Amino acid sequence: MKTLLSTAAILAFGATGALAQTVGFSQIGSESGWRAAETTLTRQQAEERGIDLKFSDAQQKQENQIAAIRSFIAQGVDAILLAPVVATGWDSVLEEAKEAEIPVVLLDRQVDSDPSLYLTAVGSDLVHEGEVAGQWLVDEVAGEECRVVELQGTTGSSPAIDRKTGFENAIEGHDNIEIVRSQTGDFTRAKGKEVMESFLQAEGGGADICALYAHNDDMAVGAIQAIKEAGLNPGEDILIVSIDAVPDIFQAMAAGEANATVELTPNMAGPAFDALEAYMADGTEPEKFIQTESKLYTQSDDPAGEYERRKDLGY
Ligand code: AHR
Repeated sequence: MKTLLSTAAILAFGATGALAQTVGFSQIGSESGWRAAETTLTRQQAEERGIDLKFSDAQQKQENQIAAIRSFIAQGVDAILLAPVVATGWDSVLEEAKEAEIPVVLLDRQVDSDPSLYLTAVGSDLVHEGEVAGQWLVDEVAGEECRVVELQGTTGSSPAIDRKTGFENAIEGHDNIEIVRSQTGDFTRAKGKEVMESFLQAEGGGADICALYAHNDDMAVGAIQAIKEAGLNPGEDILIVSIDAVPDIFQAMAAGEANATVELTPNMAGPAFDALEAYMADGTEPEKFIQTESKLYTQSDDPAGEYERRKDLGY
């Protein structure tokens, strides 16, 4: 077992194993249903553990996140949770947190900084998620020609980069499948719809599109609307595979308008607080990456039931 925490810092958190009293949470924003659920669950987890959570919504801007972290440091919080909007540009502020002996836990997205600058990262294997989505399509089309359009997440974010890589890995060597158009939809429903409209226009009104791969469900839901407005049947004329497993995509799957989704749990805070608790109790250093599951759901997995099970969970 490696001990990182200074004696002073451990004493500051108490010898009982109790978690920090005050935790700053720099959240990206509210671009998707998944993001809303992560915020809700983080607040719930904090409340259950008696933590005073200082919440900051960055409205998709890295500079707002950096300012929030600096403010958390100035306030002397016990720990910081950071869901980083993009992967690059965090070194200085993470060094400042380290200098102040405030552990930082990354939630759901990765950064390209040296791992010594944060305590741990809780998230899924984002490349694997893309691979699961791509493999579903490979199996589904079973050798038939398939022209794919791709809605990417926020440019420069680790899920956009890794989910693209994963999907490409899965279709590699399957020459029947080709990504013919790929553009960011910024993880939002509105942008997903807008970009899908342009894809449909450019691809014979949609006649030349076999499948949509969206880096999250919200963009897929926006795209479903665009496909319907173009007079096509989403889920049949155009296959749809996406990532997150939010209630709305299960509703679409139950209606036959979407085909598959890869689950990303919004409960990143539970494992993060557990790791912080152990660290603060006696300096136990967690693994650098605490991995959550990536489960595939299709129309055969009781989408109506999944919708019912999830609809009140804060999405
Ligand atoms: O970082 C996780 C991604 O961010 C989710 O898949 C997406 O919905 C969110 O906005």
